[in-house]
Amino acid sequence: MSFRIIVATDYQEMCRKAANIISAQVILNPESVLGLATGSTPLGIYRQLIDWCKKGDVDFSQVKTANLDEYRGIGPENDQSYAYYMFENFFKSINVNPGNTHIPDGKNPNAQEECRRYDELLRSLGGIDLQLLGIGQNGHIGFNEPSDIFEKGTHCVDLTQNTIEANSRFFASIDEVPKQAYTMGIQTIMMADKVLLAANGKAKAEILYQSFYGPVTPKVPASILQMHRDVTVVADEEALAVIKQKGYLSRSL
Ligand code: PGA
Repeated sequence: MSFRIIVATDYQEMCRKAANIISAQVILNPESVLGLATGSTPLGIYRQLIDWCKKGDVDFSQVKTANLDEYRGIGPENDQSYAYYMFENFFKSINVNPGNTHIPDGKNPNAQEECRRYDELLRSLGGIDLQLLGIGQNGHIGFNEPSDIFEKGTHCVDLTQNTIEANSRFFASIDEVPKQAYTMGIQTIMMADKVLLAANGKAKAEILYQSFYGPVTPKVPASILQMHRDVTVVADEEALAVIKQKGYLSRSL
């Protein structure tokens, strides 16, 4: 297994450490293609990067970004879309060229066409240098939900009830949560040069253990990361509790 685990005492430290890794990537290669994620986990990572960008410590002017996923049926004007999230929580506050930021187009009703377009775009970017990931409580990465197979390219998914319920906290009611999404596939994520998975809180402890120490199975999509050659997990102590309890962490928490 070729992943490393970086232990953080709490959410803030997790964010600082993850931001340091992203920042180092951009400093080493100013033209990096960053794969980006949404959800509550990366918010503090983006805040930290914004702070360093404003201080002149990291420069995103030549960076290109590609997001993992987007709800199907809503566009950037909807404050629950991931396009809106990325603009509000990151892009508007850093010096990235908006033309270099890419997200699946949730407003394209033609799923086949949109998935093909996004895959071609990812190819034209030359692949992803560093992919930031969160992890769902059911082990999903992007919106690659538990399934019988690992989907390869960008595809349209039916969100599981578990995910719809987890995401309903952001919507006025559960009925407003979109039921489908466009997501990068597992193959694209696996082809990223480096993967950085961030996780915090005790709700992630069991799935983090299953993903990295259980069997590799599409029933736990993140478990495929055991086969990637360069994965860094940055997680707080709560999220690492089960891994530690099973004796897999050398550093005592
Ligand atoms: P979260 O979501 O960061 O809001 O916990 C992670 C995910 O579902 O990928």
